[in-house]
Amino acid sequence: MTCSKASSGCSPVRPALPDGYELSDDRARIDTAAVHAYLSTLYWAEGRPLAVVADLVRSSARVVGLYHASAQVGFARVLSDGATTCYLADVYVEPAHRGRGLGAALVAFAVDGDPALAGLKWLLHTRDAHNMYRRIGFHEPSSRVLER
Ligand SMILES: CC(C)(COP(=O)(O)OP(=O)(O)OC[C@H]1O[C@@H](n2cnc3c(N)ncnc32)[C@H](O)[C@@H]1OP(=O)(O)O)[C@@H](O)C(=O)NCCC(=O)NCCS
Repeated sequence: MTCSKASSGCSPVRPALPDGYELSDDRARIDTAAVHAYLSTLYWAEGRPLAVVADLVRSSARVVGLYHASAQVGFARVLSDGATTCYLADVYVEPAHRGRGLGAALVAFAVDGDPALAGLKWLLHTRDAHNMYRRIGFHEPSSRVLER
């Protein structure tokens, strides 16, 4: 899916959250072991080593954590050249916290929370969460998009 700044569905930079939840883009706060442990259960990241997850947390253009009572319960990261294009990856909310808008809030904060990236071309892949991403302004790509 793709997203542009002109999309009317783009969300506020700091989405409102239910009590007890917090979003942060403080890279130092990411609990890499917790992120690795949960990503390991997801189809696209199965078998990804802890050291690789740690490298990705360090090297991604932006990393966002969702916290409940200070514990990491969600994550997203952004690849970007900082000037033209961003790619949203490794988005998750742990199952006990789903279904109350936290996934959409996490994505909105990842995409719109840094003004230097918010206006760039955004891309992502998803198997079944299209509706969540549509809320943040993502839509099916045109025939100009190819992948390999
Ligand atoms: C996708 C995910 C982050 C959504 O988290 P969440 O906190 O439940 O999301 P929200 O409560 O903000 O839901 C937003 C909307 O998307 C829909 N949605 C979320 N996940 C969905 C899924 N897997 N399939 C279909 N619809 C989904 C919800 O039904 C909701 O729509 P509604 O309010 O009209 O019912 C979470 O289910 C998850 O971590 N899944 C496993 C990892 C994953 O698939 N990540 C996305 C990879 S691209």
